[in-house]
Amino acid sequence: MNVMRTKSIEQTIREGDEPEYQLKKKLTALDLTVFGVGVVIGAGIFTVAGRAAHSLAGPAILLSFVVAAVCCGLAALCYAEFASAIPVSGSAYTFSYASLGEIVAWIIGWDLLLELMLGASVVAQGWSAYLGVFLERLGVTIPESVAYGSHFDLPAFLLVAVLTVLVSIGIQESMRVNMALVALKVFIVLFVIVAGIGYIKTSNYTPFIPPAQPTEGGSTTLEAPLIQTLFGLTPSAFGVGGILAGASLVFFAYIGFDVVATTAEEAKNPARDLPRGIIGSLVICTILYCAVALVMTGMVRYDQLSSEASLAKIFEDVGKPFYATLISAGAVAGLTTVVMTLLIGSSRVVFAMSRDWLLPPSLGKTNPRTGTPVKITVGIGTIVALVAALTPIGKLEYMINIGTLTAFLLVSLAVPVLRKRRPDFERPFKVPFSPVLPWISAAICAYLMLTLPLETWIRFAIWMALGFLIYFVYGYKRSRLSGNAHPSDAPPSVTST
Ligand code: ALA
Repeated sequence: MNVMRTKSIEQTIREGDEPEYQLKKKLTALDLTVFGVGVVIGAGIFTVAGRAAHSLAGPAILLSFVVAAVCCGLAALCYAEFASAIPVSGSAYTFSYASLGEIVAWIIGWDLLLELMLGASVVAQGWSAYLGVFLERLGVTIPESVAYGSHFDLPAFLLVAVLTVLVSIGIQESMRVNMALVALKVFIVLFVIVAGIGYIKTSNYTPFIPPAQPTEGGSTTLEAPLIQTLFGLTPSAFGVGGILAGASLVFFAYIGFDVVATTAEEAKNPARDLPRGIIGSLVICTILYCAVALVMTGMVRYDQLSSEASLAKIFEDVGKPFYATLISAGAVAGLTTVVMTLLIGSSRVVFAMSRDWLLPPSLGKTNPRTGTPVKITVGIGTIVALVAALTPIGKLEYMINIGTLTAFLLVSLAVPVLRKRRPDFERPFKVPFSPVLPWISAAICAYLMLTLPLETWIRFAIWMALGFLIYFVYGYKRSRLSGNAHPSDAPPSVTST
């Protein structure tokens, strides 16, 4: 068996030019940055940040954001090198196919699907929760039987359905909607910062790093971080450990900048604009997040922060209910763009996999009128809508983090490998100090993965086992690289290589 076969970069790029699989190349650096910010700023800052400050890090949540930003920043440099050199749809999946081999590419693609599809479902539910809060402030109540938290979350379902149609119609149209919503979202975040500064009480910053204290639950429970289970440590919150645990939680807030790389093929000038889009969106979000963290913990003492924590609640606490309404409206708009971008990202990953015949090739054909892979988009939209409507997702959020961290880890390791295998290949953007920086990046990702709960690892192992099954039953034999793909499935002009 040759599961480590790689696809040459030239072949990868050539296949992207086949007419049946053409995407339209329309996106500029600004579009890509907006796209990045659109997916990154979401539930992470609107809800998770408050929860992490309340129960894990206190005012030092600021430092958690910095640690998570360093992890993502290093990974972003690695993504930028790959995306500028191999501007082909599919992001980390495509990069690893060219460097680490087919099986690793499959693992990453399967991982990315977990991140993006589950992410879209989770954020759609968060959106539904905010919509409920917002409408209630306007005096409208969604019937309990179909509201957030019921057996069928109708708002989440409808949101995904509408966005699926938008995304299927065409990427540029989606970008226009995205641009307007992202502008509104950034305005709301800036509003929180500017309006909140006047309410900061410096006494709320003391103690900045609250002393460590034990948390409930033993070190052997499924909920304890794997690292504590492995080393038999007593789980604790706050202190330096709390800052790191907070980092692995607020990591969620940064997820998405990597999705910029999934649209590589739709960029006008990928070599220049992809690194700008990836790194630019990450820098903007880091600055905004740190400012929000400072304002939030300055306005309300960390132990008084709502663990459901919406930024809106903080303004209610300081006697500004109108501001709270405005912010919940902003959250509704903000989370919309996150779901939309995650839908686009997941459809592009399946698109890339089906173009390689690891999934049925007929799936990936683009619609000549819209220039988008309509079949895949509708299929993914349907799954995401059903999961969002019917599943009590809860702790599955951690699954998104583990999927993403695995992809970051493998992409970081892949940078030095590809440099060694293909030193000749032109890299418009290069990670500085390679291989040291990519290795540090991989080590930080691995550490953050170890801070995730054991049960997340078990669920992740099950997901991966399913992926291996599909690969060995279908993908391995049908892959373009196998040389024996089914001509009936393949588009007429494509020949097996
Ligand atoms: N980063 C995205 C969010 O915070 C997933 O919602």
